[in-house]
Amino acid sequence: MKKIRVFSGIQPSGDMHLGNYLGAVKQWVENQDKEKENFYCIVDLHAHTILRDAKELRDNIRSLAAMLFACGLDPNKSTVFIQSQVRAHAEACWLLNCVTPIGWLERMTQYKDKKEKLNSISAALLDYPVLQTGDIILYDANEVPIGEDQKQHVELARDIAQRFNNLFGETFVLPDPIIPSVGARVMNLSNPLSKMSKSFDEDESGVVGLLDDDNSILKTIKRAVTDSGNQIVFSNDKENAGVNNLLGIYKVITGKSSMQVEKDFANAKGYGVLKESVAELVLGIITPIRAKYKEYISDPQELDKLLEVGAENARTISEPKVSEMKERMGFI
Ligand code: TYM
Repeated sequence: MKKIRVFSGIQPSGDMHLGNYLGAVKQWVENQDKEKENFYCIVDLHAHTILRDAKELRDNIRSLAAMLFACGLDPNKSTVFIQSQVRAHAEACWLLNCVTPIGWLERMTQYKDKKEKLNSISAALLDYPVLQTGDIILYDANEVPIGEDQKQHVELARDIAQRFNNLFGETFVLPDPIIPSVGARVMNLSNPLSKMSKSFDEDESGVVGLLDDDNSILKTIKRAVTDSGNQIVFSNDKENAGVNNLLGIYKVITGKSSMQVEKDFANAKGYGVLKESVAELVLGIITPIRAKYKEYISDPQELDKLLEVGAENARTISEPKVSEMKERMGFI
């Protein structure tokens, strides 16, 4: 039987944070034991839609690769590679541009948000989700494990793939977004109404970076915004967003049910206990990852070798696929 194929990506646009880990990368690591075929991509072409500094990008790419291996991606079980090292991605993007109505791109909420916040934007920023579509459908991926914020992009990928199939004949598998039931939207600890992210406009004081030292992680969690009440229960009220976020982090790391989580804190007086428990769990995850990261990053040649093996493997799937696209479209 054909194995389920999984594809997902992450941008090398700053250190990985707890949201990336709990929303996406944790699922990627778990997928490795599920008899699936896994492709995980460092999407550097995407990062350049905003990042401009060549040295910073170069450093970020190796750092992210070291981090992904440190989190548990195993080169024997997953194809881990750098997007720009596999030319089919940029080529597929052009071909897909030709069948994508511009209105579909102008509707994307991430594009609209960024457009509002930046002084000048590149054509690539609008085109971003078409490149992302190519990433996914070149591999005929069935599943795309992501955090909540990427759902709209994967749905667009389905629509573009469907449109290509209608125009030129059955070529692509239609992908499904796979979003975890908890951890899909980790919020900024200082501003729990906004998602945790390392983007240009983010309040960094509420972001837990996987490379932050233990002390600053402790501080970030202890300073987390809560509310003036003292009930430790899940709730969708805006005022309770901070407590809800901490409970969500506790829930996804422990794997407990909401009821069990609330029971754990039923006798707690104040939010200090919750913050301490969350800090302990988060450090329990991050400390060993950071130690492994140091090993990987200290040997850039070995890292590059692993990534080249990944790129080679990715090319064996994506190159014939892009050739098929071109043939169907009439290129000779
Ligand atoms: P990126 O680099 O912003 O994020 C990588 C993954 O982390 C998830 N994530 C979160 N999950 C929970 N809570 C948060 N606060 C949080 N912040 C980020 C994201 O949902 C994502 O799964 N466009 C993509 C990269 C991409 C891609 C692809 C993804 C390019 N091609 C193909 C899937 C398939 C992005 O910018 O992710």
